[in-house]
Amino acid sequence: VALKRIDIPVIRPLGPNPRVAVDYLEMSFARGQFSNFGPLVNLLEQRLADRLQVPSSNVVVFSNATSALAAALATSGRKVARIPDLSFVATLSAVRQAGLSVRVDDVSPDTWMLPEAETADSDLINVPVLPFGRVDSQLLGSQSLHPMVVDGAASLGGDWNLADIKSENSVVFSMHATKPLGSGEGGIAVFGNSDWARSAREWSNFGMNSSRHITQVGTNAKMSEFQAAFCLSALDNWAEEKHEWLEANDLAIQASSRLGLETLLKSQAGNISSYWIVDFRSIKATLPRIVDYFSSQGIGTRSWWPHSLGELVGGETKTYSEEFRRGFLGLPMYRRITKKEVESVAKTTEKLATLG
Ligand SMILES: Cc1ncc(COP(=O)(O)O)c(C=O)c1O
Repeated sequence: VALKRIDIPVIRPLGPNPRVAVDYLEMSFARGQFSNFGPLVNLLEQRLADRLQVPSSNVVVFSNATSALAAALATSGRKVARIPDLSFVATLSAVRQAGLSVRVDDVSPDTWMLPEAETADSDLINVPVLPFGRVDSQLLGSQSLHPMVVDGAASLGGDWNLADIKSENSVVFSMHATKPLGSGEGGIAVFGNSDWARSAREWSNFGMNSSRHITQVGTNAKMSEFQAAFCLSALDNWAEEKHEWLEANDLAIQASSRLGLETLLKSQAGNISSYWIVDFRSIKATLPRIVDYFSSQGIGTRSWWPHSLGELVGGETKTYSEEFRRGFLGLPMYRRITKKEVESVAKTTEKLATLG
């Protein structure tokens, strides 16, 4: 059978306006500084701090979110990172990069997130992952048994207020091209205290402090001025981008409710998601069969987070995480997706019930 070409891809990044980025770069060229915490990186941290409602001394940008997670973990003073079985492999990569040992636990079936550990352990730090753009300012401000580094890679598009973040907590966002406020590559960490932020910043510059003394052996995880220019360009366009995401999300929410499909989009009204993740557990066909069928109709899909992190570390998969992986699939979602494209996805979805 000849495969039909994909007409409706699962993602379609638009990127920030390059001309705006080039205008910003005038500042770096004027100073002759292109990395190592230059003027655009400083400006970006200030702008993000305003957006997230925290002091700029608590915000650090990195080359990507994986490095931001690693920086937060490496400088947390903890030895064991507890991560969910259900996440992108980057959560695990960051733990490895930071040199902590790892413990993998299941997510809760109500939230698809890592619940708090049952017993206190002074070596442990929790790494809950916010699924698919979810916003949870309260989590960062709540008292818990353990400190946490929240992996909110896809959640920068939401309305955050981190003014009450607890001193022992931090949260990481990604500005990767596929995310809301996507730019190319870029990571952000917000820390509950500025000493932790300073230490993580030093870690990202080989572990060097401002007098070039090595305080710890870090790595190179700095954001360059070129990256910062594109991130600033993305921020400048946020009002328009937000409008486009909300329109795209609305189309998918309406189509899902017409079809009686459960989607993770619904549970996050008011926030923004770059994913249209649908619960296909009520359909008889297996997920691979569903994927093939969409593909035969020219529609791209993606199993987000298809690997068990427990298995990747040589252990076992976990019950609810596995249930999610077997039952949920990402359908096309991007800015400027048209009504016609969403209708076409919906029509194909209706036919799934007839698959054997
Ligand atoms: C849950 C999660 N954590 C971390 C990352 C890593 O982000 P980055 O690509 O900016 O390193 C991603 C996405 O790529 C992700 O989905």
